[in-house]
Amino acid sequence: MRTTLYAVDELVAALRALGGVPQPVKVAAALREMPLDLRSLEPYRSWAPQRYTRNLIARTDAFEVIALCWAPGARSQIHDHADSDCAFVVLEGAIACENFRLALAPGGPGARRELHRAGTRILGPGDLDVRSGHLSVHRVAASGGAATTLHVYAKPIDACLTYDEDGGVRESRSRYDTIPG
Ligand SMILES: [Fe+2]
Repeated sequence: MRTTLYAVDELVAALRALGGVPQPVKVAAALREMPLDLRSLEPYRSWAPQRYTRNLIARTDAFEVIALCWAPGARSQIHDHADSDCAFVVLEGAIACENFRLALAPGGPGARRELHRAGTRILGPGDLDVRSGHLSVHRVAASGGAATTLHVYAKPIDACLTYDEDGGVRESRSRYDTIPG
């Protein structure tokens, strides 16, 4: 039996139809139930050597949908997910998801935080990763060759916290490499 593939616009319409800020379980269900035709992502994909590009597909007050194109060897910073939920699906290639556990060190926000490695998961096409908020800290990297992932942030993330290996914290503003039109 052939799997029905969906255009990314159909996924965006399904997310809109959920109304309001979509819950992570509903976003994950949509990503699972609507395997995407990579050809529908073609207008949004862009590439840069040794890094990943963030390509906006759709944005509302409630969510944003972004295609990330990972060059071989590209790696994100260690980051949290602000006050948002984030779900992504691997569309092609393989992705290494390195998890960190954040110890709440004394000194309050802005103080150096203790990070502990908590295992790495390798994701392939169709695999999902779902994250929530400030305590969900990870680093994402292309594993092997190039990769493409589709991310849904609900609500959109304009800035998150990034961490050095030694726990130094910085605010990092999000940016897009490409926007539609
Ligand atoms: Fe993330």
